[in-house]
Amino acid sequence: MALNISGTVVTALKRANRVVVITGAGISAESGIPTFRGVGGLWRTFKAEDLATPQAFARDPKLVWEWYDWRRGLCAKAEPNAAHRVVAAMERFYHQFTLVTQNVDGLHGRAGSRRMVEVHGSVWRGRCMSCGAEVALEQTPLAQLPPKHDGCGGVLRPAVVWFGENYERAVLEQTFTAAEQAQLVLVVGTSGGVSLPVDLVVQARQAGATVIEINTERSAVSRVAHERLEGKAGEILPELWRRAQLSYLADEIETRARRREGRLMVGIAGPPGAGKSALAEALVAEFRNEVVYVPMDGFHFNNARLEALGLRARKGAPETFDRLAFEMAVGELRKAAGPVKLPVYLRELHEPVPEALTVEVETPIVIVEGNYLFLWPEVQGKLDLCIYLDCDAALAREDLIARHQSGGLNALAAERKYEANDRLNRETVEATRGAAQITVRRDAAGWTVVRAAGTAGATGPLRTAAEGDMMPVP
Ligand code: OAD
Repeated sequence: MALNISGTVVTALKRANRVVVITGAGISAESGIPTFRGVGGLWRTFKAEDLATPQAFARDPKLVWEWYDWRRGLCAKAEPNAAHRVVAAMERFYHQFTLVTQNVDGLHGRAGSRRMVEVHGSVWRGRCMSCGAEVALEQTPLAQLPPKHDGCGGVLRPAVVWFGENYERAVLEQTFTAAEQAQLVLVVGTSGGVSLPVDLVVQARQAGATVIEINTERSAVSRVAHERLEGKAGEILPELWRRAQLSYLADEIETRARRREGRLMVGIAGPPGAGKSALAEALVAEFRNEVVYVPMDGFHFNNARLEALGLRARKGAPETFDRLAFEMAVGELRKAAGPVKLPVYLRELHEPVPEALTVEVETPIVIVEGNYLFLWPEVQGKLDLCIYLDCDAALAREDLIARHQSGGLNALAAERKYEANDRLNRETVEATRGAAQITVRRDAAGWTVVRAAGTAGATGPLRTAAEGDMMPVP
């Protein structure tokens, strides 16, 4: 499905340094957790005054706990969805980041979020009515209702904020300070039926932040948002993040290309299964095909070719073989313009192709991609920008085994091939990691650029920034 995400929104995401994300029940809806006010919402079936007030608890603590333990059961069975994962990735990208969630389900934490304020508490903690201590309550169903505090024997209540109760002062101060400092506020899946998100957004907007809302419907936040993205958080956030990250990377490349006379050579290396070619292809699309992408992993000399060039491949020393292929190919491609003859062969054919490949290269930017690109100084020296694509190991393994299987191997053979080749490759390419000027990490949230501390981007109002404005190069 093509999502309608404007360039202004993408620019706001890629340029911001100080970001606040506010979430509500809508972000967990796709994980199967009911919201409060919409169709199937909890407040349509249950009465808040019977279950979520201090008076209700005083009247019937067992009933209140039964309801909470039922909800805890739903939360335990649910998994964080793509939207939770993108929010966790955002935290790693932005220099200053605060997640303000009204959700008590714990899914943000399970997706990896750490810089997080759970303003309504968590169903995974209890608070002692006698001594005030907060304790973790991880088991569900609970052994006894209401549960008791191991320390003092007092009755525990859910450590959540109920109707008629106040927010903790320190929590409020922290969230309002973050909102005041934010350049970008993203509000995801909240109705604003409880007013905190609206108050935070108003404060942030007054202080100059750009406000973007993601929701399946209009909400109390909509009228104070600059931009609305209507749809499911689990669909919109990953696409938005993908666009923002590609645009950020393209800016980094283009800025360097502008500063350089002649052609800019960009190399992408990284472990097998990281998805280097997918990243290269996405970047080519980002540049609207104005760059050329040459996959290097498929290119190899064969021994006959080496001999014809007066060289000899040393037996058992494949690196000589690869290094020469890479060095010559990169060297050829680096030449400023015109058709380039690549004296290489295609490995997939398992036999030499008689003619060298000739490619027309007219563009100022060439992207080459291959595992070993940064391993040898001779090759690395011919590259202007080294991008290392790191990858969650389990994800890479899954992709590689699937690739071996689609190449005709059965599951066991595919796994064996993975164990035999790919781990070795992975260890080898680990050595290339240090050469990278930019590291991109692929995980379940997609691609996220790893930014070193101190590589701050532009500051100031983001909405007025023209599309395509450059990030300062670190
Ligand atoms: P609500 O149930 O009030 O609102 C959920 C919002 O999510 C609605 O605006 C929906 O349109 C939207 N939504 C639903 N599915 C979505 C999806 N897949 N993607 C994006 N948006 C989606 O929940 P909250 O605003 O979180 O407080 O409610 C706030 C507080 O009210 C809760 O924390 C809870 C409740 O009383 C306490 O328990 C103290």
